[in-house]
Amino acid sequence: MSARPTTRAVRVPGDKSISHRALICAALASGRSRIRHILPSADIHSTAGVLRALGAAVPPLADDVRVDGRGLGGLKASTGSLDCGNSGTTARLMAGVLSAHAFASRLVGDASLSRRPMGRVARPLGEMGARFTFEHGDHLPMVITGGPLQPIDWQSPTSSAQVKSAILFAGLVARVPVSVTEPVRSRDHTERLLGALGVELRSCGGQASLQPATELAPFQIDVPADPSSAAFLAALAAAGGIGDRAGLQLTDVALNPTRLGFFRVLRDMGADVSWEVEREECGEPVGTISVAPRALSGVQVGAEQVPAMIDELPLLACLATCADGETEIRGAGELRVKESDRIAAVVQNLRLVGADAEELPDGLRVRGTNTSLGGEIRAHGDHRLAMAFGVLGALSGNAVEVDDPDCVAVSYPGFWSDLARVTA
Ligand code: S3P
Repeated sequence: MSARPTTRAVRVPGDKSISHRALICAALASGRSRIRHILPSADIHSTAGVLRALGAAVPPLADDVRVDGRGLGGLKASTGSLDCGNSGTTARLMAGVLSAHAFASRLVGDASLSRRPMGRVARPLGEMGARFTFEHGDHLPMVITGGPLQPIDWQSPTSSAQVKSAILFAGLVARVPVSVTEPVRSRDHTERLLGALGVELRSCGGQASLQPATELAPFQIDVPADPSSAAFLAALAAAGGIGDRAGLQLTDVALNPTRLGFFRVLRDMGADVSWEVEREECGEPVGTISVAPRALSGVQVGAEQVPAMIDELPLLACLATCADGETEIRGAGELRVKESDRIAAVVQNLRLVGADAEELPDGLRVRGTNTSLGGEIRAHGDHRLAMAFGVLGALSGNAVEVDDPDCVAVSYPGFWSDLARVTA
């Protein structure tokens, strides 16, 4: 008689995008907000630190945080530079907020963030009336001098929730109408949270428009688990990495459709994956994702699918090594300006461990293999590379080491212990 299938349940930590937005909105609200299950990762510490330097009373991050907001436009000039660490979301969303405050702020970041483009937010926010100065190209350090802003109707050449949110926050704080149109709708957490707090927001296809509000109401939020973190464990379970009859339930996950691209593609690869909404939290659907192992096939991913799985593409490339046939990802040029050049770094590392992978200008190609993969990969300090290759290393027969395992602290501090727990 064969062993009965087992199913484990795991709740991964709070969603990173929602945690940033909850802190920023709480600092801008008129009154005391309560945030439960905030993600206590390095990126969220960066946003909390920046808000504190601007006079917001943000306590140390804990499971239950109360923030006394300063009201719209109530932040105060910082005496020193604002350190965004490794966090592009902190730098770009705060650029929007600070554009509407009538003082100068200097934003700095670590070496990786200081290589990433800020012109994408400086252009629309500059058109609204804020002044941006850079020391090199369009990179941090950047000084923003804010003040009264004009309305804008911005056509964004890239699908970027950070650009869209910067403009929405600028309009919110400056109390002017703004509209942003992007080629494919990016994650819409800012729209959902502001909408749940009573701000008049319209979303239609790739367009989001905000009407001015007099103030932002304080709120309570229980931050759901991060689907991007859940994706690592889901990929592992789908490929049989926790047992060839073992299923996994990922509980209390944000099931926002603009974040579920990876799970839809996993299903296209033949995986046994499903999800069910159980509750709603500040406009976000929340529920359980269930995964069980099955043979996987290669898949094609195109530009329209990319925004809803942008952070999961390195993971998909790793998973493609154990799928039958070829996987091709196109229309993903944005990966080159993430925490590392994720196209080049993923392909170099896949080859280093013995996989068959090829770089394309806007994506990559991977052919599945039955042979064992092994070697020490270079994460380039990029948390998502470290975790994607961590999953690859946890698959039976592989022996992959990561040179900088601690960099997972940017988004998922307990990743290695959760990985060990589910594979035990
Ligand atoms: C994020 C948006 C995405 C994503 C990042 C988080 C956000 O970046 O890659 O990890 O919280 O708004 P882009 O807006 O640059 O695509």
